[in-house]
Order: sequence, then C-alpha cells, then structure tokens
Amino acid sequence: MQRHDPSDFVVPDQFWDRPDTREALHARDAGALFQLVRRYAGASQTGLTMRTGIAKSEISAIMAGRRRVTSLERFESIADGLGMPDHARVQIGLAPQASSRPIAAGSGPDAAQSPAAKAPGTTRSGRVWSILPPVRGFRGRDSEMAAIASCMPTHDGSDGAVAAVAVHGIAGVGKTQLARAYADNHKDDYSLGWWISAETRLEIATGIGQLAIRLGASEEWSSAELLNFLFEQLRNRESWLLIFDNVAAAADVESFIPLDGGPRGEVIITSRNPSWRMLATPIGIDVLGVDSASKLLADWSDDEDSATAEALAVELGQLPLAIEQAAAYTADTSISLGEYLDLFRTERASLLEQGSGLAYSGVDRRLR
Ligand SMILES: Nc1ncnc2c1ncn2[C@@H]1O[C@H](COP(=O)(O)OP(=O)(O)OP(=O)(O)O)[C@@H](O)[C@H]1O
Ligand SMILES: [Mg+2]
Repeated sequence: MQRHDPSDFVVPDQFWDRPDTREALHARDAGALFQLVRRYAGASQTGLTMRTGIAKSEISAIMAGRRRVTSLERFESIADGLGMPDHARVQIGLAPQASSRPIAAGSGPDAAQSPAAKAPGTTRSGRVWSILPPVRGFRGRDSEMAAIASCMPTHDGSDGAVAAVAVHGIAGVGKTQLARAYADNHKDDYSLGWWISAETRLEIATGIGQLAIRLGASEEWSSAELLNFLFEQLRNRESWLLIFDNVAAAADVESFIPLDGGPRGEVIITSRNPSWRMLATPIGIDVLGVDSASKLLADWSDDEDSATAEALAVELGQLPLAIEQAAAYTADTSISLGEYLDLFRTERASLLEQGSGLAYSGVDRRLR
C-alpha cells in the first residue's frame, strides 16, 4: 500500500479569496490561517510542518492560539510553504515575491497607476504599498497618533512642501510600531506608501532605489538618476507617505527627502536621536501607560492575573519591547506572570546576563 504523504496537500487558488482567509491574512493571524488550511485543503499539522519548516509543537501551539507569529521570517516560511500568491502576501504584510525582480514594462510617469496595477508591490486598488501593519495587539498611542496627524495637514496643492515628522525615543519604546500603526490607520489617504529601512545611508539609498525601480526606473541607472526619477514621480503623485525607519541623524536622510512633494507628500522618520528641528517636526514618545502596558502583558502571556500583570509591567518600566520579551519568555517556558515576577525580582542580575527573554539592554539600563 502506498503511504500518504502529509505534505501533499493542495491549497486551491480560490482559498485566498475567501472572506475568512482574507480576514486571517489581514489580522496576520497564523493560527486562524492554519485552521482554514486544515479545513479547506486537508492539511495536517505534520503536513504544515513539512511544508513550512516550523516545528510541529509550534504549529500546534499556533493553531491552539497559545503562540502567535510575529516575525517576518516565520511569515515568509508560511507564505512559501503554502504557495501564497502575491495578493495574499501583501495582505499578510509581506512584500510580493516578484518585488525584487526588475520591472519589464510600465515605465514613465504613470507607471504606478496604469499598467503597474498588476506590478509587484501594487495592491488591487492600484496603490503602491510596502508598509507592514503594526504588531497584533497594538495598543494605546492615540495621542501620539493624533500628534503625527496634526503635522500632516491635507494640502491644497498650492505650496507642495513636504510635511515631515520625526518620531524619536529610546530603543524598544515603540517608534517603528507607531509609524506602522499610523500608516495602517491612514492607508486610504495615500496612493503610495513605502517603508525604507534607514539605519545607514546605504540602506536608505537602496530603499529609495527600489521604490524608483518599482515606479518604472531602470535598474541600470545611477543612484542620482534613480533619485531624480523618484522625486519627479513623487511631485506628480496625488498623495504619498515615505517612512524612514531608524535613522541615525538628519544628515543621513535629508538629501533623500524632496523639497517639492506635490499635492500631498509626507514623511515619517523614526529615530533614537532627538535632534530633528531643522528637518522635521520632532515627536518624542515615551513608554506605554501602565494600563496599556499591563493589558498588553496579560493579552500576550494569556495570563488573567491582572494585578500581577500590572506590577510586572511597572517593573519592566512599561517598555513595550521588554513586555513583548517577558510575554514570550512566559509562553516559551510555560510559567505564570507571578512566577516570572518572582524570578525577575530575585534573580534579576543573573537573568539579565543570560541572553534570554529577559536580557534586554534597555531594561537593564532602566533597572540599574
Ligand atoms: N503600542 C504598542 N502596542 C503593542 N506592542 C507594542 C507597541 N509598541 C511597541 N510594541 C512592541 O514592542 C516591540 C518594540 O517596538 P518597536 O520595534 O516599535 O520599538 P522601537 O522604538 O522602534 O525600537 P528601536 O529603537 O530598537 O528600533 C515591538 O516588537 C512590539 O512587540
Ligand atoms: Mg524601530
């Protein structure tokens, strides 16, 4: 008798257009997605393990809702393993697979709006978008979001000046997530939204070049040609948003921001550096409020002990990254928040050295 190969399941094309699938993709809910693949494609946990390379125990925890997937690498493995088409990849927050390939057709000023409706990085509505949604369970930040919005008035097209804000704060405070959440909330306001990892000038130049190529520039062009082409494209666009994530200093980014942004051109910079006055309106962000921080901890750790969640959130300095790491640590080791708090208090120094979920330098700094 021939043995059944668990990895031999087929995800039908129509599966990706189901409303429940689209909902799971948009929520970046890998657990719900796996459940749907099991129901509609007959995939077993073993089959999912074989196709995605994710351990069976982890697949099981994800499907049971005990673990959530947050890392891009994991989402990439899932997308590859399930043969996710580009429109589904975009919905779950991944770049379309073809995005790194050169664009054969569709150059010129209208490239992004007409033939490129089918080009990589273009959503079904014709929007060019590469900004991921925020982490699942994103909380708080209403006033920071409003502060950004107030710096981004709807331009009437008369002056064309680019509105730029710089979200700054310490490592792990939530700058990147805030920028993503803002873009996600205002997605409908822009016909183009592009994320640029901006730790170095080289990274910025690469991200800018990719956007220019995405809009129809040739890969053969020099950096200066790509930049000129991009500025021209942006000037002629109705509305656009560029996010430069994790910029070290204003000098690194200023030459990549056009002077004339067209009717509505907007830039968000995230940085640990507070000095932005010359280039952008600075918006400093602080750790989360106790309420948001403790609810986040309780949600992510799946522990209903709210008093302990609050005490621990305060001990962690309400720093989102420290909270994420504490929740991951409790999930990985199956200990309660109370046990974690005891452990944290008694063994703080040694735990901080272990390189475990507790060893975050930001927390370390705050606790000394
Ligand atoms: N408002 C929020 N709600 C829920 N989780 C958050 C929020 N802000 C941040 N986080 C969590 O904290 C982690 C760190 O946040 P983020 O990456 O945005 O920090 P950052 O300020 O950009 O840090 P860095 O300076 O190192 O780039 C995120 O991965 C996320 O899990
Ligand atoms: Mg960041």
